[in-house]
Amino acid sequence: MSIIALLPAAGSGSRMGAAIPKQYLPLCGKTVIEHTVAALHAVDEIDHVVVVISPDDTRWDELSWQGFARLKVLRCGGDSRAASVCNGLAALRDDGLEAQSWVLVHDAARPCISPALVAGMIAELKDDPVGGILAVPVADTLKAADAGQRIAATRPRDGLWQAQTPQMFRLQPLHDALVSGMGPDITDEASAIEKTGQSPKLVHGSPWNLKVTWPQDLHLASLILAGAQA
Ligand code: C5P
Repeated sequence: MSIIALLPAAGSGSRMGAAIPKQYLPLCGKTVIEHTVAALHAVDEIDHVVVVISPDDTRWDELSWQGFARLKVLRCGGDSRAASVCNGLAALRDDGLEAQSWVLVHDAARPCISPALVAGMIAELKDDPVGGILAVPVADTLKAADAGQRIAATRPRDGLWQAQTPQMFRLQPLHDALVSGMGPDITDEASAIEKTGQSPKLVHGSPWNLKVTWPQDLHLASLILAGAQA
């Protein structure tokens, strides 16, 4: 059974406030997306790394992808992350990928993912009936805010986890769940699967696996990558 990594990379990264999408910003001598692709491509268990970019993307072809024999690109990004993932899954299925193949959806904007963490996740989930996600237990005290930005309540953090990617599910069930659940409350693959009544497994992720969202995240990511190479 095939195992595919699917990287949605069609976002504009508006929260970053940069002139170019965050996946193409420079990071330790490369771009963010080159680090992400290299990490997934280094996982032996993954048969293909498939990147979903915007049909208007002009930057992908400017990068050198030599040496990435198992890398494919699809120019079918949509106007939300879920739509980009859904379009990518449909293209894989139309290309003949078996319905029960595992797909690990990973944000292009998480360049510090470690290949060992992904390999461990695959080992833990490959016989699971549902699939699962990387996540870390919430460490901070959580406050709910009122309209005036004053504390309305303190939420117990026991049992709360912060979702990361990869999120690993089977091709056809994930596609069907995203199509039937599509809406603003579907912010990751697991939430679509949950809507079908199933409970994905939580696999311990890493605080280093941060998503580059705000300008300061690039600095943190460069420190993490420098540490990984030391
Ligand atoms: O914006 P956010 O940080 O949630 O994006 C997470 C990932 O989803 C990024 O890699 C981004 O490029 C991708 N994305 C996408 N299509 C969109 C929006 C986001 O592929 N329309």
